Amino acid sequence: MLVEARAKINLTLEVFGKRVDGYHALRSLLVPVSLADAIDVVATDDAAISSDSPYPDDLCVKAALRLAQCGAAASRTVLGARIHVEKRIPAGGGLGGGSADAAAVLVALNELWKLHLDRASLCKVAADVGSDVPALVAGDAVLMEGRGEKVAKFGSFPGFSLVLASPGVFSSTRDVYANCRPRMTDDPSIVYNMRSALLSGDFERVAAATVNDLAASACALHPEISLAMEALRSCGVSHPAMTGSGSTVFGLVPDEAKGREVAAHMEAKGYRAWSVRTLSGDVMAA
Ligand code: C5P
Repeated sequence: MLVEARAKINLTLEVFGKRVDGYHALRSLLVPVSLADAIDVVATDDAAISSDSPYPDDLCVKAALRLAQCGAAASRTVLGARIHVEKRIPAGGGLGGGSADAAAVLVALNELWKLHLDRASLCKVAADVGSDVPALVAGDAVLMEGRGEKVAKFGSFPGFSLVLASPGVFSSTRDVYANCRPRMTDDPSIVYNMRSALLSGDFERVAAATVNDLAASACALHPEISLAMEALRSCGVSHPAMTGSGSTVFGLVPDEAKGREVAAHMEAKGYRAWSVRTLSGDVMAA
C-alpha cells in the first residue's frame, strides 16, 4: 500500500513548563504541507518488521512494533511488515519527517492488518511512538496540546502558499527543548489571532501571527537558522519563521509563482528550498 507522509509546519508553537515526565507542555497549531515522503507498506506473514528508512532512530519500525503489540491481542494472524521509505522531507528539519512516516505506517498497517482501530486508539499508539505522531495521524490542521498527545482538529481555512528553506544543519529536538526558556504565562490571544488571520485569507496577517517559542533556542544553537531567515527576508519575505525545533525556516508568499521565484533565489544562495502549499484532508482516507 502506497501512503503519503506529509510534512508539517508549526504556525504557532508555545512552550510552557517542564512536566513530571520530563517533557515540556506545549500548544501548537500544525498544518500539513505538500512536501511528502512516499511510504510503501507491505504486510508479510513472517512476523518480521523491516524498514529501509535512513533515520538511525527509525520511527517506522517503532510504530509498526507498537501497533503489532496492540494488534496481537485482537488478531490471530502473524503480523509482519516490509516498509520502503522514499525520503523527500529533510531529517532534523522540524518538518516532522520521521513522525509523518510513522503516522503513515500506522494508518497503512491498521488497514493491511485489518485491526480496525478507530482514530482515538490509533492516536494512543501514536503518542507512544513520538510527541508529534498523533497530530500527524490526523493528517489535517490540528491544535496539539499536552506533550503532543492531545489533538483537536482546527477547522478549515483558505489554503496558502509558502516557501520552505533548509540551512542543512541537523537540529536536535532534545537539545533545543533543553536550551529553551518556557513562557511563564498562558496567552490565549496567540491561537485566537492566528485563527482570525487564517480565516481572513490574508497571508501577510498569517505570517505576522506566527509564533515559535523554540526559535531563540534553536538559533542560539545553530546561527545558520537566523541566517536562513535573513536570506528569506532579503527575498522579500516579510515575517520569516522557523518550524518545530528547526532547522527549516519558512515564509508565506502571495501565490505559487512567487513561491517558485523565492525558492529559486534561496537555492541560488545555497539552501535547499521548496515552494509548497498548505493541505487539508484526511491521511486516513488517502
Ligand atoms: O517525543 P520526541 O522523541 O519527539 O521528543 C524528543 C525530545 O524532545 C524528548 O526526549 C524531550 O527531551 C524533548 N521534548 C520535550 N517536550 C516535548 C517534546 C519533546 O521536552 N513536548
